[in-house]
Amino acid sequence: MHRSELKKEAAEAALEYVPRGCVLGVGTGSTTMYFIEGLKKGWVRGAVPSSRETERALRKKGIRVFDLSQAKKVSLYVDGADEVDPKLRLIKGGGGALTREKIIATAAKKFICIVDESKLVKRLGKFPVPLEVVPMARAQVAREIRRRGGRPVWRKNFITDNGGEILDVYGWKVSDPVKKERELEGIPGVICAGVFGKRRADLLLVGTSQGVEKFISVTGIRW
Ligand code: A5P
Repeated sequence: MHRSELKKEAAEAALEYVPRGCVLGVGTGSTTMYFIEGLKKGWVRGAVPSSRETERALRKKGIRVFDLSQAKKVSLYVDGADEVDPKLRLIKGGGGALTREKIIATAAKKFICIVDESKLVKRLGKFPVPLEVVPMARAQVAREIRRRGGRPVWRKNFITDNGGEILDVYGWKVSDPVKKERELEGIPGVICAGVFGKRRADLLLVGTSQGVEKFISVTGIRW
């Protein structure tokens, strides 16, 4: 099966977990777009989008859009990922929406990650780690990253929804995602690191050619 079919399969499986009448957090990317396609107008009270692109797609479906500050409670966050390790820790930000994604994922009670099987890895780091940075700090952050053994590549002509810039960092093997995330987010000028160690997914739905596989992280959440 083609990767896009596997993404669609995972996205459709996530629809079953959407509590009716809830406020839903919605991620960014092609897998999430399949999820939005399947959402029905009356199912949710509204959605908090992680990017302008997602906001447009939700509005097109007639789904009410909330700002995070307006939403008292986000019951569920659904999003894709660029890499997932066996403990459901993630690399995200291939689409550049990592900061809002992390904020909404953290605010949400539950986080379902939807991916095709190519995203599964034993250890994070083959996919470059995206960092959103304050534009005036870009060169300074890049020097600091090189000092720490990474190879930062500036995503030219790309400005995030927050007015930030992105450095994609190659060459790191991320065996301790929580530590790496903390270290990176401690560098002045870094707005957000695309390592989701602290806020990992609670449930992972993987599209495979044999059907959707389900993985649950040990967080004591009932599904
Ligand atoms: C967006 O910033 C990312 O975090 C996406 O979730 C990630 O890149 C996955 O994208 P696809 O669903 O398009 O593979």
